[in-house]
Formats: sequence, C-alpha cells, structure tokens
Amino acid sequence: MAISTSVSQSDLETAVEQRRNFAIISHPDAGKTTLTEKLLLYGGAIHEAGAVKARRAQRHATSDWMEMEQQRGISITSTVLQFDYQGCQVNLLDTPGHQDFSEDTYRTLAAADNAVMLEDAAKGLEPQTRKLFEVCRMRSLPIFTFFNKMDRPGREPLELMDEIEQELGLQTYAVNWPIGMGDRFRGVFDRRKRQFHLFERTAHGSREAKDTVLDLSDPQIEDLLQQDLYYQFKEELEMIEELGPELDLEKIHAGQMTPVFFGSAMTNFGVHLFLEAFMDYALRPSPRNSSEGEIPPTHEDFSGFVFKLQANMDPKHRDRVAFIRVCSGKFEKDMVVSHARLGKTVRLSHPQKLFAQGRQSLEEAYPGDVIGLNNPGVFAIGDTIYQGRRLEYDGIPCFSPELFAYLKNPNPSKFKQFRKGVTELREEGAVQIMYSADEAKRDPILAAVGQLQFEVVQFRLKNEYNVETLLEPLGYSVARWVDGGWEALEKAGRLFNTATVKDSWGRPVLLFRNEWNCQQVEGEHPELKLSKTAPVV
Ligand code: G4P
Repeated sequence: MAISTSVSQSDLETAVEQRRNFAIISHPDAGKTTLTEKLLLYGGAIHEAGAVKARRAQRHATSDWMEMEQQRGISITSTVLQFDYQGCQVNLLDTPGHQDFSEDTYRTLAAADNAVMLEDAAKGLEPQTRKLFEVCRMRSLPIFTFFNKMDRPGREPLELMDEIEQELGLQTYAVNWPIGMGDRFRGVFDRRKRQFHLFERTAHGSREAKDTVLDLSDPQIEDLLQQDLYYQFKEELEMIEELGPELDLEKIHAGQMTPVFFGSAMTNFGVHLFLEAFMDYALRPSPRNSSEGEIPPTHEDFSGFVFKLQANMDPKHRDRVAFIRVCSGKFEKDMVVSHARLGKTVRLSHPQKLFAQGRQSLEEAYPGDVIGLNNPGVFAIGDTIYQGRRLEYDGIPCFSPELFAYLKNPNPSKFKQFRKGVTELREEGAVQIMYSADEAKRDPILAAVGQLQFEVVQFRLKNEYNVETLLEPLGYSVARWVDGGWEALEKAGRLFNTATVKDSWGRPVLLFRNEWNCQQVEGEHPELKLSKTAPVV
C-alpha cells in the first residue's frame, strides 16, 4: 500500500522558503575545510571548531585511501552538512576534493541550488575552481564569492574581482569591502548596513569571533583604521559605488552576477556577514526540468533524483547508499514511489539522516534536502523517483575525464567476473569505461577525473568480484566527445597527437595529451563539434 504524503500546500511553501542549499567550489588549500567548520560553528551545528578535524585528518592521510575508508566506514556524514540559521535549514553539500576528487565532485553540483566559490586572496582563481565553475555555469547556478585569508598578504581586491569578470565573464558586486590586508588587515565595511566590522587577530578562532561594529559616520573610525588605510578605503568605496553595478538579484539568481565577500575563515572573520547575506540572496529550491516540463518544488507529489552512490568499502558491511536530492513534495519514511527507469515501485525504507552522530533514521524531508537510502542495486546515478504522474528529471551528464588507463585481467578463468564487475561498476557511475577504436585492443579503458576512482574500481573488483586487475596508464589528459559523430571524424582524416576511443554507448571520443593539442584540433576542425560533457543514455 502506498503511503500518501500529508502536507498542506502552505506547509510545503513554508518548507521550501526555509531551505537554502549550496556547495563550496574551491582549489585545495583555499580553506574549504576551515570555512565549512566555521559555517557549522555559526550555524550552531558544532560548538567548537575542531570537531571536523577528522575530515582534515582524512585529507592528510594522503594515498592510503583503503585505510581511510576503513577508518571512516562509510563517509556518510560528509555528504551533506545541515544546520539551522535564522529559522532556515541550510544544506551544505560536500564536494569531494583532494584525494577524494572524482566525478562525484561534479555530480554534487547537479544537486546544488547555489555555489560558494572560495578563493585564497593571495592566489585568485585556481585550476580546480575553474573546472568546477564550468559545471556551475552549465547549470547557471548562482555563485557567491568568498575571498579568504585576508589576514595574510594577498592580491589587490579590485584585481581579484577583475579576474573573475574577465576570465569567468561574471559580473561582480562587492557586498563588503576590505580595509587593508595581511598585517594591516583592519576589517571590512558592510555595504548592506553601512557599518565597519573591525578585525581582531585571534589564534585559530575556535569560538565565534567578537565583533566590533562601527557606523560609517563614527568619529573614532579614522584613528582606529589609521589614516592612510582610511583614506584608501574611502577612495576605493567611492569608486566601486560610483562605477560598479547595482546589486541585481535576478542576475545573481541567473548566475550572471556574483556577490563578493572578503574575510578570514581561520579567524572566523567575515563568516557571519557572509551567512547573513547568503540567507537573503541565495536561490531557494527552484523548479527543475523534467520530461514533463518544469516541476516546481511546491508540487504536491514527491519527486527526486539520485546524484551520488556510495559503496561501503568495509567487506563486513557491504551496503550501498544512494543519495537523493528531493525536488518536489514531501518525503516521508516508508513511502512507496515509482522508479522511472525500472518502471516499478520501490518502498523508501531506512532513510538515513545525514550529518548525524552515527546513522539516524529520517522521518521526513523537503525540496532542497538530501536523503540517503540503502541501495540494494536498485538505483543508478540520475535515476528519478516520483509519486503521481510519471516524470524523469534531466539526467546528470558524463563529465570530461582526465586520467586514462587500460584495465587488464591477467587471469583468463576470471573473464566472466571481470566483465560483470566492470559493467556493474560503470552502471553505478564509479568510473567511465571507454574502448579503443582499434578492435584488436579489447581491454576496457578506465576514464576518470580523479585517481581515487581507479583505486575504488580495483579494490571493489577484488573484494566484490574476486578479480585481481592490472592498470596500464595511458598518457592522455584531455577528452572530448565528438558531437559531429563518426562520420565527421572520418571526414576530418588523420588527426595528430590524439587517440580515438568510443564510450560505453559507442560514441566517438578523442583523447589528447594536453589542452594545447585539443585546442589545435578544435581550431582546425570545428565540424567535429568537440564537447566536454555527454548525456548518459
Ligand atoms: P582546504 O580544505 O580548502 O584544502 O583548506 P583548509 O581549510 O584545510 O585550509 C588550508 C590551510 O589554510 C590550513 O593551514 C588552514 O589553517 C589555512 N587557512 C584557512 N583559512 C585561513 C585564513 O583565513 N587565514 C589564514 N592565514 N590561513 C587560513 P594548514 O597549515 O594546512 O593547517 P593548520 O595547521 O592551520 O590546521
């Protein structure tokens, strides 16, 4: 018997209005762990920074991934972090980074409504941030920029903003403006309330920072800031207010303008100013495109899609969890839903509350929330579940891999298990599988965005399918789908410094040794229509 949800339209509307969901995009070392910790501190989810230390320890346990997985069991707690702020539920979707970097990092952005682009103010835009930004751009996600480490010498604020405008084509609007930096960092001016927040140097700020706030007209300010910094600030403020754009919420929501913040996550400075503005400006859970057109989050029927699967690496607990982003209606424990791909019904039992001490059961969830479900092989990445009228959300595409290796099975008697394992792991989205266009080379090519994906595949093949495998790395680092198809490729004739492979659906993919080779082919053969992503079919 299906359990129908019992939620009034106005309760649903309130729940949606009270949800904020985002992911942080950054390059390693910009301070994502530190900022996450401080957001949790300000959100009251932890009482003292340092509680997220385990996460940091994981990161430092560099290559020994297997041990890392065993230690943490399933890293369910880091998939989504929840906290309440100003009467709203904030869901921070964790984007795996560092050694965890994988296609999941990109897929997580498919479940996010907003992104926070965290930059080290001394470094500006860095490669991983650019890649993640591209995925955000595909979805027109609103981007909030936080320039971190202002307590250390960094680049000029105007130069940092200009880099975003020029290189990402994103208009910037400074919500707060810094006064000095490094040793002379004095704080920020909040343009929303037209007040100064003065910076006090504290060691690592494990508690909320003491905040000294002064009005723009306060006579003490000139002395407190020191004259030269004060005049420099006045000049810069005048300039950005006269020449800069007006804050435009529509543009922010369309991912065309980024609100900019300056702070120092380590010393907690600027974190609550950021959170307050974020709560106002962030996009609420919004309609999603599906086979039935746009589905509003306030639609009475529950629906959602799978954006991540996680297998427990501990052989004693071989369970799998499917992470589902709720898109419409209300989720209730034990509800029976339809599975669009399989065309059957599934009971959603044992939902797990995320970011809990251990695993706790979850009773209900709303649009913008993420639920974890035990997945006995029923779910694949991109699957839609729904109640009521049949619908399927737009799938999550395959993202351009950067690491390639032949996967070899040295033991012919294990052929069947090998083939089964490779197929199942591909279907689950653990890695992409490609094949050489040369029929004589039949070993599958593992194609991944992070080294960890290779390790996962080999480990799981051994543990779950009892097959030892060997990897033979290929010297390519860039892949592009050929949207023009095999015909266009044939017409283009011989291409230098590339390899032609086909993906799991037989579509042509070109592999390049570097970006430069790729750009050259792209320039010479526009008819190939090279693409960085491809739909899952
Ligand atoms: P990540 O997750 O993005 O990789 O970065 P993480 O937070 O681990 O921060 C990377 C380093 O930058 C850490 O130093 C952290 O303390 C430091 N950091 C983060 N925010 C700030 C900031 O606002 N100001 C300054 N000065 N440093 C900051 P570490 O030496 O690697 O670790 P630890 O010894 O400080 O724990």
